[in-house]
Amino acid sequence: MPKVTYVEHNGDRRVVEVPVGENVMHGALYNGVEGISGECGGGMSCATCHCYIDEAWTARVGGPASQLEREMLESAYAKVKPSSRLSCQIEMTEALDGLVVHLPERQSA
Ligand code: FES
Repeated sequence: MPKVTYVEHNGDRRVVEVPVGENVMHGALYNGVEGISGECGGGMSCATCHCYIDEAWTARVGGPASQLEREMLESAYAKVKPSSRLSCQIEMTEALDGLVVHLPERQSA
């Protein structure tokens, strides 16, 4: 099963297995990774699943955020960067085995 490394704001790294077809937000929630809330359940209406894609993985996750994602990210609590994505919009594939995502300090006030 492909693995994702979640790098929390304090530098702690959590490596978890995320099934193919599942999204990166659920991978965090189901494994108790701090730093992702996913309040809307993946409906792209909350931005509490904000993460920063590690530079080495930007192209492989489909590039930067889509227009719709960017609009939603405008309501993200943490600073939005070119590497920002909504983790609920990243679906795991075997090709994403080893994906590294960095998490903001907080998802809400
Ligand atoms: S979980 Fe709400 S936008 Fe991703």
